[in-house]
Amino acid sequence: MNIKIALLSGDGIGPEVTAESVKVLEAIAEKYGHKFKFTSADVGAVAIDKTGNPLPDKTLEICANADAILFGSIGDPKYDNNPKAKVRPEQGLLKLRKSMGLFANIRPLTTYDALIGKSNLKEQVIKGTDFVIYRELTGGIYFGDKVLSTDGKSASDNCSYSTDEIDRIAHLAFKAALKRRKKLTLIDKANVLETSRLWRKHVTALSKSYPEVALDFLFVDNAAMQIILNPRQFDVILTENMFGDIISDEASVIAGSIGLLASASIGKNAALFEPIHGSYPQAKGKNIANPIASILSAAMLLEHLNLFKEAQNIKDAVNKSLDMKVCTSDINSESLFKTDDIGAFIVDYINYPEDYNLKHNNIKIGQSTII
Ligand SMILES: NC(=O)c1ccc[n+]([C@@H]2O[C@H](COP(=O)([O-])OP(=O)(O)OC[C@H]3O[C@@H](n4cnc5c(N)ncnc54)[C@H](O)[C@@H]3O)[C@@H](O)[C@H]2O)c1
Repeated sequence: MNIKIALLSGDGIGPEVTAESVKVLEAIAEKYGHKFKFTSADVGAVAIDKTGNPLPDKTLEICANADAILFGSIGDPKYDNNPKAKVRPEQGLLKLRKSMGLFANIRPLTTYDALIGKSNLKEQVIKGTDFVIYRELTGGIYFGDKVLSTDGKSASDNCSYSTDEIDRIAHLAFKAALKRRKKLTLIDKANVLETSRLWRKHVTALSKSYPEVALDFLFVDNAAMQIILNPRQFDVILTENMFGDIISDEASVIAGSIGLLASASIGKNAALFEPIHGSYPQAKGKNIANPIASILSAAMLLEHLNLFKEAQNIKDAVNKSLDMKVCTSDINSESLFKTDDIGAFIVDYINYPEDYNLKHNNIKIGQSTII
């Protein structure tokens, strides 16, 4: 398969972690006989420095011509510390999502046996958690009219959804459930909000087309509690923009480190894959950032293109690296492994899965370079 990938590494640790994903994708291409053509483009602070624009037209053009976008991260302290800056790196990502019509944000949540003790939550509660959140990304209250009264004493934010906006993400979520444990939970506030009642009505109607999927509903306040009390009950969660924003950050604590969490943003004709973390500027250029969130984002990219075997190979390699404690210091503060060691281990495992015992022995005797 020939695949065109737009590479938007961005700022801070973005280029370092994305470089490891490219190595991993190149190993997959070689092993499975694919051709991945990467085209780099600027976004964020690096693009402002070069062109004055956080999302230059050239970048947008490269994205529009690609089969998928692999995104690193954006953000730089010189803008974070300057609230008066009119042009900001974040505008690049927001404009990209809007221009490409990326209406569905997808975040998988899983636990790793090797890291179960890293979470703030109890092992017996989170062990075996495996769910995915489908969050509507381009509608709802974040995009509705915002009004501040002339006397400054009242304000309003309008929340509106159309059935088209609901249906297109609901179809994606039902299809995902069909490939998983066939359970879909709609999180809403239908006891109070008219928009939530519209979501319930339409998602219920759509469920007739997916008879194998069990549909249930949870009010968002209860859902916030259930995610912490019993996260194993969830398979696919579907929700609107603001509830999804809050629920997905809450759920991220289950995995143990933000450096492990991948995401996808999907539109009708475009798809973008990125780690959920930011540009972690303190780590820039130090080769210490965890590249796994970016590498798992690359695995999601392959799944999106129906390359499931290839994606599973990456996920198996990530699991093996964690099992063998080949990890960066966010996971084990005594670890000597660097960002590029993790990428090298994962590439090695993809190329020579049967050799991992030898590598394990080398690692156990304290070598930080993968042989
Ligand atoms: N999608 C994006 O590109 C995105 C998302 C969030 C924040 N940002 C931007 O990133 C910059 C920094 O923001 P922040 O400090 O709030 O968030 P951040 O995610 O960059 O970092 C927060 C903390 O998480 C940990 N961390 C993050 N990524 C890690 C990794 N790969 N490996 C190990 N540890 C990791 C570090 O301890 C770090 O101090 C800001 O400019 C912000 O606007 C960008």
